[in-house]
Amino acid sequence: MPTVLGLEGSANKVGAGVVRDGAVLSNRRATYVTPPGQGFAPGPTGRHHRAVLLGLVRAALREAGVEPRDLDGVAFTKGPGMGSPLAVVAAVARTLAQLWERPLLAVNHCVGHIEMGRLLGRAPDPLVLYVSGGNTQVIAYSRRRYRILGETLDVAVGNCIDRLARLLQIPNAPSPGYNVEQLAKRGRQLIPLPYVVKGLDVSFSGLLSHLQAVTPKLLESGEATPEDLCFSLQDFGPFLGFGQETAFAMLAEVTERALALTRAKHLLLVGGVACNHRLQEMLRTMCRARGAELCPTDDRYCVDNGAMIAQAGWEMLRAGQVTELSQSGITQRYRTDEVEVTWRD
Ligand code: FE2
Repeated sequence: MPTVLGLEGSANKVGAGVVRDGAVLSNRRATYVTPPGQGFAPGPTGRHHRAVLLGLVRAALREAGVEPRDLDGVAFTKGPGMGSPLAVVAAVARTLAQLWERPLLAVNHCVGHIEMGRLLGRAPDPLVLYVSGGNTQVIAYSRRRYRILGETLDVAVGNCIDRLARLLQIPNAPSPGYNVEQLAKRGRQLIPLPYVVKGLDVSFSGLLSHLQAVTPKLLESGEATPEDLCFSLQDFGPFLGFGQETAFAMLAEVTERALALTRAKHLLLVGGVACNHRLQEMLRTMCRARGAELCPTDDRYCVDNGAMIAQAGWEMLRAGQVTELSQSGITQRYRTDEVEVTWRD
């Protein structure tokens, strides 16, 4: 029964999890939270991860009830992500793998999300919408690759939401996205915002710079409240027959197009923004209209975590796709479709 320890730390979350043959034995996580109005820079984020990662590994092993000798591999995030946090996690993974004489498994972060989603969603071949602070992609599996059918042409949807939170000085705990979602529920007024869809791709940079330009004026003159702005980023008015949010309506549109193209029966929603109930509701409605099903989303495994890296590592180990020490470097840019998926037919 292969047992794999997975380490994640590509952005402001850092985690350690243990997976054994489809069972998540533990999943420990810590988040680097910055004060309202501030984002997280690579240097301080890496230092945060360095301070807590060994404690998380110890806790994850204890909770899983496994000793280092019970492990069959050490998986870690190779990329994509922020340089300093990735480097910290990779250094710990390399050290532990050599110390314990276990193979290293260098995992693509996006593939980690997909494999965890496949495990929990119980859908063998879903269309995937990966939405987070760093990534926005519509993905489908074909001939040993997770193919990117559509993606953001500039910033990620989660980054757009986080930066609105920063603009409005909304707290970053538990997460800026969660707080924007709560405020959006009380928004009463729709501010028109740019809606940019190009085929299966989306663009959020115009939406973001528009928000940055109008927000101070609207708040100062009392023409709009922070709640209205959160709602408008999320809410778009009548579109395809249901009330929407601008950014989320764009995502629903490209995902619907991809569903039509692939004829997939299941949609898997992964990444930090997948926790947003409004986005889930919109996608569920869209899926139902197309005779497809939205796979259930579990907040514990949607947000970046160690178990998802362990799960992808477990698949790689099973297929014999281990990583040589000399090949265990990190990379900030690592596209989902660069990985040869040797563990699927
Ligand atoms: Fe992620």
